[in-house]
Amino acid sequence: MDGGVKWIIANWKSNKTLTESIAWVEEVGHKIENRPNLKVVVCPSFVALGEVAHTIKVGHFPLMVGAQNVSRFEGGAHTGEVAATQLVGVASMVMVGHSERRTEEDETDDEIALKIQLAQRVGLMPLLCVPDEEAEIPQGTAMIAYEPIFAIGSGVADTPADAEAKITAIKAKFSNQLPVLYGGSVTSQNAKAFLEQPHIDGLLIGHASLDAEEFVKIIESVYTI
Ligand code: PGA
Repeated sequence: MDGGVKWIIANWKSNKTLTESIAWVEEVGHKIENRPNLKVVVCPSFVALGEVAHTIKVGHFPLMVGAQNVSRFEGGAHTGEVAATQLVGVASMVMVGHSERRTEEDETDDEIALKIQLAQRVGLMPLLCVPDEEAEIPQGTAMIAYEPIFAIGSGVADTPADAEAKITAIKAKFSNQLPVLYGGSVTSQNAKAFLEQPHIDGLLIGHASLDAEEFVKIIESVYTI
């Protein structure tokens, strides 16, 4: 164990109504402990972002807010887009380049690099999702999530040993100190095995983050490592 900070990030994708989002925050917020070596981030959809941030603030919950995406434009006349500047004061992190966006929205490496630049410029922490250790890591990236395509939403996670090897390779390549997380079919059953790997700095969790109780169990596995 490196004793460093562990990041546990909930990626809700296109799930949860505003009411469901707030109920989750209230439940998780009350149940988790505020620990110096633990950072928990929730990434709701845009409709819930402001209310989630407000609920966390009022409840003094040890939770941070992330957006699931950001516009590649600076703002202005871009209907349907949410600019990085608009996220300031609401989110502190933004996910960029999730594989679902790369495939469903044809998001390119150039667009991803632009988004990272815009997010970083306004002080948001860009979290870049990559499918393997060969992926481009644009300047300004604050954190990386290694998410092998086969493991996303499949119920078949990578092995902790393979994730550790890939993450070690990613870290070595950029000899800087960026945290690198694992994502893909993480559950309360396998979370600890990933978190125990010395180079894995945390987890990006989709499906298993939707259920507050299951998500709290995943967080609790950090307490024991
Ligand atoms: P999953 O999704 O946990 O449902 O596999 C992870 C992700 O896509 O970030």
